[in-house]
Amino acid sequence: MLPAHDNTYITRTGPGTPMGNLLRRFWAPVLLSSELPGPDCPPVQLRVMSEDLVAFRTTSGRPAVLAAHCPHRGASLFFGRNEEEGLRCVYHGWKFDATGRCIDMPNEPPESNPSTGHFGAAQGNLRTSPSAELRTSFRDKVHHTAYQCREQAGIIWVYLGPPDLQAELPQLEWAALPPSHIVVSKRLQDCNYLQAMEGGIDPSHLSFLHSKKEASQKPVEAGGIRFPPYMTRDRHPRFETLETGSGVQIAARRVADDEHFYWRISQFLLPWYTIFPADPGLPLGGHAWVPIDDTHCWTWSFSWQAERPLTPEEVADMRSGLGIHAHVDPITFQPLANRANDYRVDRVEQHRGSFSGIRGIGEQDMAAQESMGPIYDRTKEHLGVSDAAIISMRRLLLRLAHALEAGQEPAAAAQPENYRVRSAALVLPRAQPWQQGAAGALASPVFT
Ligand code: FES
Ligand SMILES: [Fe+2]
Repeated sequence: MLPAHDNTYITRTGPGTPMGNLLRRFWAPVLLSSELPGPDCPPVQLRVMSEDLVAFRTTSGRPAVLAAHCPHRGASLFFGRNEEEGLRCVYHGWKFDATGRCIDMPNEPPESNPSTGHFGAAQGNLRTSPSAELRTSFRDKVHHTAYQCREQAGIIWVYLGPPDLQAELPQLEWAALPPSHIVVSKRLQDCNYLQAMEGGIDPSHLSFLHSKKEASQKPVEAGGIRFPPYMTRDRHPRFETLETGSGVQIAARRVADDEHFYWRISQFLLPWYTIFPADPGLPLGGHAWVPIDDTHCWTWSFSWQAERPLTPEEVADMRSGLGIHAHVDPITFQPLANRANDYRVDRVEQHRGSFSGIRGIGEQDMAAQESMGPIYDRTKEHLGVSDAAIISMRRLLLRLAHALEAGQEPAAAAQPENYRVRSAALVLPRAQPWQQGAAGALASPVFT
């Protein structure tokens, strides 16, 4: 269990919170590029770590993210006109460029914004010295909050941290691949990011939630994911965790036969990514959980083949709704199977052998994670040895957030090259340590 103060500390990510400050040191994937389909397209409203934002694509094609509320009197810029390299508020016409600079203020008389000379308008609560008033136009003094954006892998990323600490995007394997090699999706999840992320680094649940009731001699396959028979034959894996420069490696050991173990080594990558293993030759997969606010998050899902383009059959399989890519409403990204319809649980299927009776790995995860409540009260949990990865991840996040409060920046945020890792699944002789047997398989070949 987690003491109440730690539970509050680790789950709250709004502006000024310790965990929010830590997460803001890292780039956040926030929109699919397709949500801003072209220059001067309609703006999109979004919320990231309890900050209301608006995104738009400029006339020259550059993505931009601004605070949602116009600095004049607070109307939402979501209703704004996206035109000529800026977003114009529809209330009184103020216009802002991608950097947050106010570039037009058409409801103010000319003397408010002289090119030089006296600054004459009534300025409300804006306080400036007389000498500044002589030099500065009203427009120049109104600087709106704008965040740095990047576009990579069909995703728009935003950096909400201190500008002087901004590093490059993390060198994640999937993010470095061409579009032909990767499937990306996102879905809205109605719970705190942490309990969703805990599900993502919990290899123990694979043998239940995503599996069959009976032990199987055949792999369990769904939507491009394959769980070999070891997963249902050995349902209580042993865990080892290893902290790395970018997160935690999680090794789950199952019995393969009398002489071998089946190892699945996953990656938790700071502050919200996972990569889970696949048998050799099969696509890899992973997630990111980005807080929308304290009771909602975006669950990003990624499937990829580093060495070759995905085949049409693989893409169709991934998009089938059976795997990690849930079927969602195309506007809201709310999954079609959701809490309101009990995730379409099918009790007949559950009786027949599906462990959960819920269709789709993403939906199965959602049902379990959202059913824990909007923010799970971890003072009530009972962690076992099978929860070792979750304990390691929480310890790391808590330690880094406390260190940041004491003035120590998280090193991983400034070391994008430390993200050049992948996961692995392999059968090793029982005597062979996984660190040795898997060492080559855990380095991404994409960057060499
Ligand atoms: S509130 Fe935006 S221009 Fe007035
Ligand atoms: Fe899962």
